[in-house]
Amino acid sequence: MASDDGSSVAATQSGPSQKTSWFDKTRRILLVIGIIYAVILLLLCTPFFQRQTLYLNNIRIPLFPKFDLPEKYGLAPNKTLNMMIPTQDGESLGAWFVLSDRYYHKLSASPTRESLAAEHIQVAVRNHPTILFLHGNAATRAFSARVQHYLTFSSRFGANILAIDYRGFGDSTGTPSEQGLIRDARAAWDWLARKGTIAQDVLIVGHSLGTGAGAALTKELGRDGITPKGLVLLSPFSSIREVLETYQLFGLLPLTKPLAMIPWASNLISWVLVHKFDTLKIVPDIDLPVLIAHAENDWDIPDSHSDVLFNAFLDRVLPKVEVPGNALTATKEEYKAMSSSIKKRQAAKEKLVHQVDIPGFGHTESFWDEKRQRNVTLVKTLWGAHDYCGAQEGVQDAIGRLFGFF
Ligand SMILES: *[C@@H]1O[C@H](CO)[C@@H](O)[C@H](O)[C@H]1NC(C)=O
Ligand SMILES: *[C@@H]1O[C@H](CO)[C@@H](O)[C@H](O)[C@H]1NC(C)=O
Repeated sequence: MASDDGSSVAATQSGPSQKTSWFDKTRRILLVIGIIYAVILLLLCTPFFQRQTLYLNNIRIPLFPKFDLPEKYGLAPNKTLNMMIPTQDGESLGAWFVLSDRYYHKLSASPTRESLAAEHIQVAVRNHPTILFLHGNAATRAFSARVQHYLTFSSRFGANILAIDYRGFGDSTGTPSEQGLIRDARAAWDWLARKGTIAQDVLIVGHSLGTGAGAALTKELGRDGITPKGLVLLSPFSSIREVLETYQLFGLLPLTKPLAMIPWASNLISWVLVHKFDTLKIVPDIDLPVLIAHAENDWDIPDSHSDVLFNAFLDRVLPKVEVPGNALTATKEEYKAMSSSIKKRQAAKEKLVHQVDIPGFGHTESFWDEKRQRNVTLVKTLWGAHDYCGAQEGVQDAIGRLFGFF
């Protein structure tokens, strides 16, 4: 016993000094991390850094792009017209118009670039569906993941594609902003209209950041009494705010989680956020058929964003829950009414929503919105990550069936 005591005293004597230096080091490292974190957050409060990190339009992929040579990125010779589209407020947007393969293959001779502009586009938009493609942040319309969408849309769907680079992206002029992107989407729409495209033949397809612009465009068109064929949201977000709250750096580090501990931080985020893209708020203004697709292995935007959006569409057709006006003075009857209305809502949901599990691929949920005579479908895939969700044939087939491309 005595010797045991002695040795333990010796051990604790050498202990403290080691412990303090280890403790000091850790504290210093944490302090540095904390300062870096605070600086990043402060920078993100400035409109300039917000713009840089949200749009990432200065990330030019591919490097040294040859927009006037779409063939370089895999498109058939003279199937694509490279051009500039003017916006209402004087910007100029780089854009590609890709012909439907069903049209392109029927031509007896390969078109020239001149004949594409002068005649083929006008004929193709009148005889085939057209997809207005609104890409996500970073890179340009020549980015390989995007080109892959044009290739499959024009072949499997037989659709024409108009893909634009928003202001500040690619060879477009200007600086990106929320209003600016919506204007750009509208400029692309107006260009199609000038070529003689019928609204009902145009499907608006947004990817990632482009879903924000696409949803806002749909709302604006609805206000003008224009009804496109539908809206597809690929890897969407419910709002930028939600992205900030759910974003995980490298899919691991929750970036703004620590802020959740500060009660006023959440209000602060809303207040400093210049570019909101609040798609969730726009849902009640969208009456078109809608397809939402999201990969479960999306590391940039979690697929819960798509659940939120789908539920918002669903919310409009389900019976409301009767919540007592004042929880403290509510009578037993009021509580009974509430619980029965919750049950009714749940039953209505189960009856309405049709779920199909597709082994090896994912699952779909859909419902028919009787009042608006439209189908709303959510496709959840196991694969595809953030950029290639819509490049999967299973997702394309769901789009094709819903919008009558086959
Ligand atoms: C594509 O168009 C260009 C210019 O209009 C023309 O010179 C070229 O021959 C065309 N390419 C093919 C394969 O016809
Ligand atoms: C919605 O459309 C999809 C694709 O056409 C179809 O499979 C599904 O059954 C439809 N759902 C409802 C509830 O109408």
